[in-house]
This record gives sequence, C-alpha cells and structure tokens, in this order.
Amino acid sequence: MSSNNRIPMIAGNWKMHLVSSEAAELATAIRKALPANLRHDVLLAPTFTNLHSVHEAIKDSPILLAAQDMAWEEKGAFTGAVSPAQIKDAGCTHVILGHSERRHIFLESDEMINKKVKTAIKDGIVPVLCIGELLEERESGKTNDVLAKQLDGDFAGITAEEASKVIIAYEPVWAIGTGKTATPEVAEETHQFIRSHMEKMYGKAFADSVRILYGGSVKATNVDQLMAQPDIDGALVGGESLKADKFPRVIDFQKI
Ligand code: PGA
Repeated sequence: MSSNNRIPMIAGNWKMHLVSSEAAELATAIRKALPANLRHDVLLAPTFTNLHSVHEAIKDSPILLAAQDMAWEEKGAFTGAVSPAQIKDAGCTHVILGHSERRHIFLESDEMINKKVKTAIKDGIVPVLCIGELLEERESGKTNDVLAKQLDGDFAGITAEEASKVIIAYEPVWAIGTGKTATPEVAEETHQFIRSHMEKMYGKAFADSVRILYGGSVKATNVDQLMAQPDIDGALVGGESLKADKFPRVIDFQKI
C-alpha cells in the first residue's frame, strides 16, 4: 500500500508570527536539529517581511522556503500585494495558496486561487494548494462535495502536466489551530477521496504521484500516526512549527 515514489514533505506555516530576527533564530534552530539522514522535504513559510532573514538562515541547507500567499499579477498597481518575482527574489521556491484563513478571513474565491495557481506554475514556483471543509460541512455530510468543488475550481483550465507541479494540502478548517486533529482514519479516508478525484481529473498515473499533505493541529505527538497512513504524504503544520523544541520531532517523524 505505502509503496509509492512520493517524497514526503513537512512544512511549517508561521502565519503572522515573529519579527525577522526571531524568524531567523527559529530557522537556525530547526536547521541545527535536522536529522542527519533527512530523506524528505522540509519547507518553511514565514511572513513576507521575514523571508529574507530566513533565507539567509537556511542558506546551503536542504530547507526550502515558501511564501504564505502571492499575487496572481506579475506587477503593477496592486497595493498590499506581493508578486511572484518578489517572492522568488526573497528565495522562495514554493508558495502556499488558498489557505483557509485566506479563503475565510480574506474572502478569496476559487477563481482567485485558480489565477494564483496558474501564475505560480507559469513562474516556476511550486504551489502548495490548501483545500478543506468547515465543521458544519463535515457534520452535514458535504465534505467530499466541498473538496471536489474546490479542486475543480482551483485546477480549472490547468493541464495535467501543469498540475503535476502542484502539492495539495488537505486542511479541515475545524482542525486548524483548534487542537482537534482529524483522526488518522478520517484524514486517510479524505485523502483517498482527494486522490480519487484527481484520478478523475487527470488519470491514474497523476493521482498516484500527486503529493497530498495533511494539516490541522499536527503535533510532535500525533505526526507518526498520521504519516503512517498510505495516502498522507506529509504535513502542513501551524502552531507546532513555531516551537523550536517540538517541530524538529515533527520533521523527524517515524513511520509506525
Ligand atoms: P495548525 O495550523 O497546525 O496550527 O492547526 C495548520 C495550518 O493552518 O496550516
């Protein structure tokens, strides 16, 4: 079951926390604590203003850098927005797109997220595309419909070859920052649904190779059980990724 070629990824989403010196300090601590035999991807996503200091702190290490969002336009009169070229200049190879906080607090639609995904792919930045359902949607049995609609909208007009650049992150909104992690079984079942929907959209080979991360209250104490699931290819971690004494253990997960 778990024999696949998908390289796991552990990503830390630092949201709107830390100033640049603190972010550099945390990145340095994480870098020092990396397992010697690291065999998967590690990604850090600091706030825009901290990208440069974190980039400096992770220089010549295997840690990858992501922005937490990005504009869909290349440049121009878009006050408050940050362009693909600007995040690349700051050292980013990846960008988180469609995070539930962008969807629900900043009212980003699937149309907007779709434009961002297309721009990222065109500009050679790897999108980490977040999808996920609200608690009431799960409780009323609508999870799969909601996820299918997000995937259809976010991948609209994108070819299989282009889509193969994308990493998906399943983040049930009710599990984000709440301490209520999806059980490994619920997460696995939902990942299987997402993979089957990707198969419908792009075929079996695509579905077998697309990486699907889980996010929502991932901790040092539950990462192993989640990562043991065959369709969970990594974790997108918020709160726990800010803890220098905990995140290294998440990175060094054990398949149990
Ligand atoms: P959390 O956040 O780990 O604090 O629940 C996850 C996320 O929002 O990416």
